[in-house]
Amino acid sequence: MAQIEAIQGDITQLSVDAIVNAANSSLLGGGGVDGAIHDAAGPELLDACRKLGGCATGAAKATPGFRLPAKWVFHAVGPVWDGGNRNEDRLLASCYQQCLELAREYGAHSIAFPAISTGVYRFPPDRAANIAIRTVRAHFEASGVEQVQFVCFNFETFQIYERLLSIPAIA
Ligand code: APR
Repeated sequence: MAQIEAIQGDITQLSVDAIVNAANSSLLGGGGVDGAIHDAAGPELLDACRKLGGCATGAAKATPGFRLPAKWVFHAVGPVWDGGNRNEDRLLASCYQQCLELAREYGAHSIAFPAISTGVYRFPPDRAANIAIRTVRAHFEASGVEQVQFVCFNFETFQIYERLLSIPAIA
């Protein structure tokens, strides 16, 4: 049974097999967690991302972690919140599902997710956390992942995840 937990902290510090980046479709870096990951990984990460040719919203692509303690970075492109009627929920769920698929392909047994799309992309944090938890619970077993961490950068997000994780999965 995988361990699925929320922690508060900086995802770039985690010595896990894979950390997930909340990237944009160019995969050429940005601010927020994207900027932090590129800063910590060093310039080789951007070089590797340049070779990926971008990434569609709802999809994810893998690179090594370079100077990060994590072995891999799975760059996921979340949806920009636009009111909720433009497939945002489905696209966000797809980011989590695609990252678990990458974990299976790359043999990653521990994975850490930031709260994708809830910063610059303005996705409501509680709605996003619900989608994240539901999607991970539904797909982690097929991925071979044994440890999932939802890494919350602020206390408000951490409290949302803690509350939702305390609600047992519907059998
Ligand atoms: N560790 C963990 N979480 C972090 C970190 C960090 N070091 N830095 C920021 N976060 C959190 C934010 O607090 C937020 O909860 O990551 C979550 C996602 O916020 P953003 O990084 O703004 O990502 P997102 O909303 O998906 O927007 C993506 O922002 O940085 C650009 O290039 C990126 O264009 C893309 C867009």
